[in-house]
Parts: sequence; C-alpha cells; structure tokens
Amino acid sequence: MKIFIDSADIDEIREAYSGGVLDGVTTNPSLIKKATAKRPGLNMKDYINKILTIAEGTPVSLEVLATSYQGMIKEGIKLYQIFNSVAENVVIKVPVNPSLQKEPSYDGIKAIKELTDQGIPVNATLIFTPEQALLAAKAGAVFVSPFAGRVDDFIRNNHEIKYDKTDYFPASGWKNESTGKEMEDNGIVSGIDLVSQCVEIFREFDLQSEVLAASLRNPRQVREAALVGADIATLPFPVIKSLLYHFKTREGMENFIRDSVPEYAALFEE
Ligand code: G3P
Repeated sequence: MKIFIDSADIDEIREAYSGGVLDGVTTNPSLIKKATAKRPGLNMKDYINKILTIAEGTPVSLEVLATSYQGMIKEGIKLYQIFNSVAENVVIKVPVNPSLQKEPSYDGIKAIKELTDQGIPVNATLIFTPEQALLAAKAGAVFVSPFAGRVDDFIRNNHEIKYDKTDYFPASGWKNESTGKEMEDNGIVSGIDLVSQCVEIFREFDLQSEVLAASLRNPRQVREAALVGADIATLPFPVIKSLLYHFKTREGMENFIRDSVPEYAALFEE
C-alpha cells in the first residue's frame, strides 16, 4: 500500500519525505487554511511550488474551490497550468458531488470526465458510498478517495456515541447495545468497510482507478485499510509517526541503551 501525507504544512511534508518512504501528498482547502494560518503574508504560488518540489516524482493533489462544472474545469485547468510545470506531479482534486442541496449535482462527474479527457489526472474526493466511487472511477479518476474516518464519525454521531477524533472504530462495525441492531450507514458498517467495498467493486470490474483511503486517524485503521487492499492511504503526519510506536519497542530501546558496555561503545569512537 502506498502512503501519502495528508497535509499542506511544508515543514511536515519535508520531514515526512526525509524518511524516504512517502508516495504522495494530498491537500484540501481546509488543510491549506490550517497550514497557511501559521504563515501570514506568504506567497501562495511560491509555497505550493516548494511542496511540489519536495514531492518531486510523487503525485500532489490540489483541490478546486468551484462547485459548478464550468468553474471546476476552469480552476482545474488553471491549477494544472500554473503548477504542473514545476515537477510534473499535479493531480486535481474534484468533489464527486459538489451540490450543497439534497438534490445531487452531476457537475463533479462531468468535471472528472472532462479533465481526464484533457489529460489532467483527477482525484475524486468526498466519497462516502461505493456507488459514488463507481461513478468517479467510470469517469476516469486516477484516485478515488473514500473518507473512512468521517464515515465512522457519521455512524457514531447518529447513535449519539461520544468519541475522540482519533478513537478506533472497528472495521466490522458495532452493535447498538440498547437496540441490538448493527450500527450502519445504508449498508456501510464502518469507514474501512466503505474502503473495502470500493476495492471489491474496482477489482470485480477491473476498474483502473486506485482506491485512496482518506480521513484515517489511527494506526489500526491504517492496518485495516491495507488488509482490505486499499491502494493508497493518506495520513496526517502524526498518524504516519504513530505507525512506528509500540510500548515494547520503546522498552527494548531503553534496555539496549542501558546494557551497552563501554568496550562495545568504544568501537564507534575509533
Ligand atoms: O483527505 C481527507 C482528510 O483531510 C479528511 O480528514 O480527519 O478531517 O476527516 P479528516
């Protein structure tokens, strides 16, 4: 499974890439807002250029802001024209359904198809159902991004369950203790279940889009995304680092350091 960093913070991206195991970057307007709030007066073009350069050789998703077909096409082409020449690694992120009304809009699917036809790679975002994923894949998106953590939030909120954002929610779902019924969202029992159903459909019909598991908040969820066959997981930097933690690893390190004899340590001083 490829690992992307889900961040627009240049310091985090630089540090994450220094490990040599990163495969890409995903940003969105909220992440850009968070990262740039710490840097008043920054030049946005220069800032994004630097991100693209750090990530050279791996894809960086930049999201459109418009919600209409024409607007998304215009912005997608513009972002691609401004930035892709920097390191040839720009992917345009387009919401699968940009409608703010209950009635869905077809503009996202049309925009994914049109940008793809123009040779611009697209990451279809805000995927909450396998059906949305199927349409995005059929429209040609290179990445299709189910938001696993937010599905878990939605299920827990609907059952008035208190939780912290990073709390684990089982891939196999939960039963509501009082009703005995499985908690679910229209046949999806967890965020990882959504990822899994997307993977299954793409494999069944040989769809070429990669499933990019997004909104992952803890290491166990990352493990489960890998186990169900997600092609990519995009992770905030703290989650990437937390993949390395285990109490026994730390305890073992303490013991090794305590047990080092001076004669052995001296070998490194010659
Ligand atoms: O890539 C999508 C991601 O940024 C959303 O994460 O944790 O805010 O649901 P989260």
